[in-house]
Amino acid sequence: MRLLGLWSLLSVATLASAHLPPRDHVAHDYYAIHVSSSSSSSASLDELATHLGLTYLGPLGALEDHHVFKAPKHESDIVDDAVQELKRRRLKSRVDSHVLDNVLFTQKQKLKPRHWKRSIIPKRQNIAVHGNAAAVKAQQDIAKTLSIKDPIFNEQWHLFNTKTPGNDVNVTGVWLDGITGKNVTACIVDDGLDMDSQDLKDNFYAEGSYDFNDDDPLPKPRLLDDQHGTRCAGEVAAGRNNACGVGLAYDSRISGVRILSGQISDMDEAAAINYKLQDNDIYSCSWGPPDDGKTMEGPGILIKKAMLTAVQKGRGGKGSIYVFAAGNGANNGDNCNFDGYTNSIYSITVGAIDQNNEHPYYSEACSAQLVVTYSSGGGESIHTTDIGANKCTASHGGTSAAGPIAVGVYALVLSARPELTWRDLQWLTVETAISFDQPSDWKKTPGMGRMFSHQFGYGKLDAYAIVEAAKTWKLVKPQAWFWSPWMHVKQAIPQGDKGLASSFEVTEQMLKDANLERVEHITLTMNAEHERRGDLSVELISPENMTSHLSVTRKGDEEAVGYDDWTFMSVAHWGEKGVGKWTVVVKDTEVNDKTGNFTDWKLRLWGECIDASKAKDLPLPTTHDDDDHDVIDDHPAHTTSVSVPTGTPVSVDPSNLPTRPVNQKPTGTSQADSSATPSPSAAAASATASPENFLPSIFPTFGVSKRTQIWIYGSIGLILVFVAGLGTYFYLARRKRLQSTRDSYEFEILDEADDDEGGARAGMLAGAGGARSGRRAKRGGELYDAFAGESDEDLLSESEDGDGPYRDRDESPYDEKAHLAEGSGSDGESAGKRH
Ligand SMILES: *[C@@H]1O[C@H](CO)[C@@H](O)[C@H](O)[C@H]1NC(C)=O
Ligand SMILES: *[C@@H]1O[C@H](CO)[C@@H](O)[C@H](O)[C@H]1NC(C)=O
Ligand SMILES: *[C@@H]1O[C@H](CO)[C@@H](O)[C@H](O)[C@H]1NC(C)=O
Ligand SMILES: *[C@@H]1O[C@H](CO)[C@@H](O)[C@H](O)[C@H]1NC(C)=O
Repeated sequence: MRLLGLWSLLSVATLASAHLPPRDHVAHDYYAIHVSSSSSSSASLDELATHLGLTYLGPLGALEDHHVFKAPKHESDIVDDAVQELKRRRLKSRVDSHVLDNVLFTQKQKLKPRHWKRSIIPKRQNIAVHGNAAAVKAQQDIAKTLSIKDPIFNEQWHLFNTKTPGNDVNVTGVWLDGITGKNVTACIVDDGLDMDSQDLKDNFYAEGSYDFNDDDPLPKPRLLDDQHGTRCAGEVAAGRNNACGVGLAYDSRISGVRILSGQISDMDEAAAINYKLQDNDIYSCSWGPPDDGKTMEGPGILIKKAMLTAVQKGRGGKGSIYVFAAGNGANNGDNCNFDGYTNSIYSITVGAIDQNNEHPYYSEACSAQLVVTYSSGGGESIHTTDIGANKCTASHGGTSAAGPIAVGVYALVLSARPELTWRDLQWLTVETAISFDQPSDWKKTPGMGRMFSHQFGYGKLDAYAIVEAAKTWKLVKPQAWFWSPWMHVKQAIPQGDKGLASSFEVTEQMLKDANLERVEHITLTMNAEHERRGDLSVELISPENMTSHLSVTRKGDEEAVGYDDWTFMSVAHWGEKGVGKWTVVVKDTEVNDKTGNFTDWKLRLWGECIDASKAKDLPLPTTHDDDDHDVIDDHPAHTTSVSVPTGTPVSVDPSNLPTRPVNQKPTGTSQADSSATPSPSAAAASATASPENFLPSIFPTFGVSKRTQIWIYGSIGLILVFVAGLGTYFYLARRKRLQSTRDSYEFEILDEADDDEGGARAGMLAGAGGARSGRRAKRGGELYDAFAGESDEDLLSESEDGDGPYRDRDESPYDEKAHLAEGSGSDGESAGKRH
């Protein structure tokens, strides 16, 4: 009896914990499968498993209707093969309803190279604190008032700087107001968290923690160089006690998710990155793809879905907060817009400044960087908790150390004002970050009237200023977005300083119809072919004349490809209206024999909505979101129909054309508001060789057959004309198609039939750069395969030798571990170290 009761209790507990059994990638393959919600029942999942010879393991983290299956190791992707086979049979004859019909997405899992930790071991000067007497006295008074007895509090200059008063995060006033991070949980996604450390154990939150490397409930650091996460945790939430120093939010809870201490698959990273999304409020991520100045990599589709899920559902729907370290590759010419984690609109990207408010050589710039805060450089570094019962380090650094300081500040903000959404936190950052006197490309943004620089974002975080602002902050309305059609350029990029420009005119009506009031983030997805990727750079000029440097040249990036559906992001247009001409300029400034073409682009404006009651959630991304580049819908009505760019479905009567025919030359900005029915020909791209001097666009008549059009397409002489016309054509066709099928035009999920059609058309257009979808479908695999042949050592060889940017070592009295590691020639702290 008793035993039985225990047994059932145990199995219930197993179910409730919902952790997958440990993975064995040697013996098994793992599949992440998205099924339609109607077939998420265990009976249907079992049926699917049986049909394919899989074993069902369980749900994939917090991703709705995503499940994990395993199969004995096999060379091919047996699930995708089965799905493709079914499609083939479908083409030949009717196949009765089938268990595979409910498979919406499948991905065989691969182990991928580990992310790089973004820490730098800084060169040390002396650690003696030569504070000015008055500042030291003030510091002592604060410590006394707050009963801070932590032995290294006086070394923690980033909290209270006695040497250069003011060069700190200005947090002590927040503490004196009684705001210390209560009731907020920050989760350190890293190489573990020493929950037994005296400095962390009281704030440690086990329920929010998990070890995805060793399948253990507790994120205990196990490898010699697993210090990184603990150091970051100390910056956020080291307790007010007798051990080391204090964290910025010393009464907050801290959890740890361990992913950096071994290879994992996308599926595990997806489960890790929103782990316990109702318990963990902020995810602190001081890692990313290699900062080597030649990598261009972002999160896979499952990870993207996991982040969006957290942003939509986490924190009770207010949205999980993601904080990412900008990256340490500045010395390698790297830029955080080549990192798909830091340039996500869902992450707050944090760069570093040193104790002198100077730019440390490592900290990457980019238009997606929101803010900076203190870290190593200028002879100092961050003093924080280390692994061990009561150990500290005086040499935490790199953007790895800046990110968690921001996390600590955000924990204080949420503690003061828990109802803030993920976007409110970004708004508050933009509004309160402080620009400072350092040479950079500072410019007052037209949107906010605040200073922005690609190197420092909107400036440095000021804890007091942001918490004060948060207390009375009026919450922003929900998010809305406007997406341009694909703008087809398909032209050679001139070499030299000129660049190739293409514009898109956003009308007031378009934004009204998109329910978009003002811009926050912009993203630009683009394609370019090039024989040397590092030669390219991209600028975006807004209607209010703010320039975002979306992409910069990278000396070390030899990759003989251009950009393949890469999405750049900018926060520099925050607060702009968005109406008017947006111009993208692609440059190939290196004059050499490596050339290329600018294929196409698509602009997305994200921001605050006009009418909150009409706001909706963005659907989760799919693998074919950007597969619509070359889709030509040849339904006859579409070539002449004009649609209103609105969310409401419009039935179009071909005889009821607007006052101005679509093939007439557009007259600029005024053409949209001059008529009650705004003309979508504003959608046409104009592409010229100079941004200052746009040729007027001339539109071809669409009376010709599609075949003829395709022929024209290939003709170089007419390419400009055609591109402009095609832009309109696609735009119209798309609008029409979308409006007739759903009540929103901003996105679409292509179904199978669409895919097939698209493929066929792409085939017809192959000579003109069609046939995209097949290539794109493989891209994820190619990314990972790119590393497959290389050993860890090969990948690292760069950072292994000498005093490279990741090798800035030092001697630290506290830093026995790092010391040890250095002695054995395996300095784990340096980015990219594998075992
Ligand atoms: C720093 O905090 C103090 C309160 O402790 C405040 O008076 C001061 O204005 C803050 N600095 C800035 C720049 O907001
Ligand atoms: C702590 O947070 C929870 C959930 O966000 C909330 O229900 C509770 O009221 C908060 N407690 C305090 C003391 O603020
Ligand atoms: C736009 O800004 C650039 C500098 O970024 C400046 O040179 C140019 O004159 C400005 N143009 C207008 C129309 O204000
Ligand atoms: C650019 O386009 C031209 C003309 O279509 C083509 O010959 C060339 O190979 C393209 N360049 C690249 C790098 O793909």
